[in-house]
Amino acid sequence: VKVTFIHSDGREETVDGRVGDSVMATALANDVEGIVGECGGSMMCATCHCYVDDGWSERSGDRMDGEEDMLDCAASELRPTSRLSCQIKLSEGLSGLVVYLPEAQL
Ligand code: FES
Repeated sequence: VKVTFIHSDGREETVDGRVGDSVMATALANDVEGIVGECGGSMMCATCHCYVDDGWSERSGDRMDGEEDMLDCAASELRPTSRLSCQIKLSEGLSGLVVYLPEAQL
């Protein structure tokens, strides 16, 4: 499934992800800069912060329990579309997903 990452400078990168993988893992596997994922996906770091494109926010689901608290620790501005990308699992229905990367993760 395709995932498009839009960097804070407007640069776009579209990569192939595997169903079941998280958006964070997909970014790391494809060397997408701007996602750090320090804790490996256990909701302990907030360095995988991203903004889900408005057209995808419903399909990508709600924030998980505890995600909100961790997002409060994110380095960049929090927005209604903020998510921890390690908590978004890819599915066929999410092919074409677009997420924006924040200016900083640390
Ligand atoms: Fe640490 Fe997502 S990778 S919270």
